[in-house]
Amino acid sequence: MDTEEIVAELERYLGPDAAELSLPPAAFTSPELWEIERERVFGRSWILVAHADELAETGSYVALSVAGEPVVVVRDEGGTLRGLSPVCRHRLMPVVEEGAGRTDVFTCPYHLWRYGLDGQLIGATHMKRNPAFDPSACRLPRFAVEEWRGFVFVNLDTSVEPLGPHLRRIDENLTNYRLSELTQVAGWTEEWHCNWKIAVENAHENYHVMGLHPETLQPTTPGGAETRVRADSPWADSMRVRYATPLEPVVLDLTEEERSHLYGFFVFPSGSLAASGDMVIWLSLIPSAIDRTLVRGGVLMPAAMIEGQDREAVRKEAEAYAALINGEDQRGLEEVQRGAVSRFAERGHLSPKEPGVLLFYRGLARALLREDAEWPGEL
Ligand code: FES
Ligand SMILES: [Fe+2]
Repeated sequence: MDTEEIVAELERYLGPDAAELSLPPAAFTSPELWEIERERVFGRSWILVAHADELAETGSYVALSVAGEPVVVVRDEGGTLRGLSPVCRHRLMPVVEEGAGRTDVFTCPYHLWRYGLDGQLIGATHMKRNPAFDPSACRLPRFAVEEWRGFVFVNLDTSVEPLGPHLRRIDENLTNYRLSELTQVAGWTEEWHCNWKIAVENAHENYHVMGLHPETLQPTTPGGAETRVRADSPWADSMRVRYATPLEPVVLDLTEEERSHLYGFFVFPSGSLAASGDMVIWLSLIPSAIDRTLVRGGVLMPAAMIEGQDREAVRKEAEAYAALINGEDQRGLEEVQRGAVSRFAERGHLSPKEPGVLLFYRGLARALLREDAEWPGEL
């Protein structure tokens, strides 16, 4: 199946009578489609990359690759979050390795050119006798950064519209979870060996819980639980899954409905938040290559929840639990990747228990088509 055929198939998801089918398997493996995604999806979408607690201090940074594009987000001396290209202006070595950390200055490891936290070159040795070189005009290029309720998003395209207005309904839904007052108690960065869409479609459904999380999540949110979804805009959709037994939050004042449901909120293409009682978990599934997905996330809680507790013990416990659940998903999704390259791989029929998967496919279709492709609204 060539790329045009794949995109034409995806366009059908935007129609009123879209078949409830999974993606054409070639969508997971086609190098040509991956190149188009790099441009049309990841080249111009808001990508959730961190929580602001990770970037609280001057010089704290998160460096990663967004669909093959090196990016660093850093808190500069003035307190502003900046999105910079870490690719050195001399001969292309990224000035910082992937990962999170803190620094006063970015020093390129290759020939030691130095850049300030705002990206401006501040030193380059043995360059004075090159008259064509103007150090004052030398700076790391910028990306767009937006912080929304503590979540840090980056966009490779600096001319895009802001994200905030698209998240208004999610913001209203999350009022009682008091996002701005939550603190990150644990975080993780992993790499899964699968195409990013295999990971994102999985995040959009609870149906797999009975297969991949039989002992961990199945008792609380069974795979057959009542599931409702909602599309807010091309950039945002949500899912609500009924708990087997309502939760009893300790700190947050939640309604009966909030106690009875797990809420998942999705920011196309990669970001998600799950609100569950006194806890909000964020997760971002960002491709670094066609078959590699960076998985960043964290657990947020109200400060009062952890008052008087050993922060380190809380962190370890939350990270161990996240590693358990993530491991279950990772093992499953790496197996799906193995199936996706089979000569017998075909599109499959979706269950009514996974309507969110179709919402994700719609977002994908729209992103791959013209920017003005019509958004069909509610599912
Ligand atoms: S490539 Fe960075 S200093 Fe040479
Ligand atoms: Fe899962």
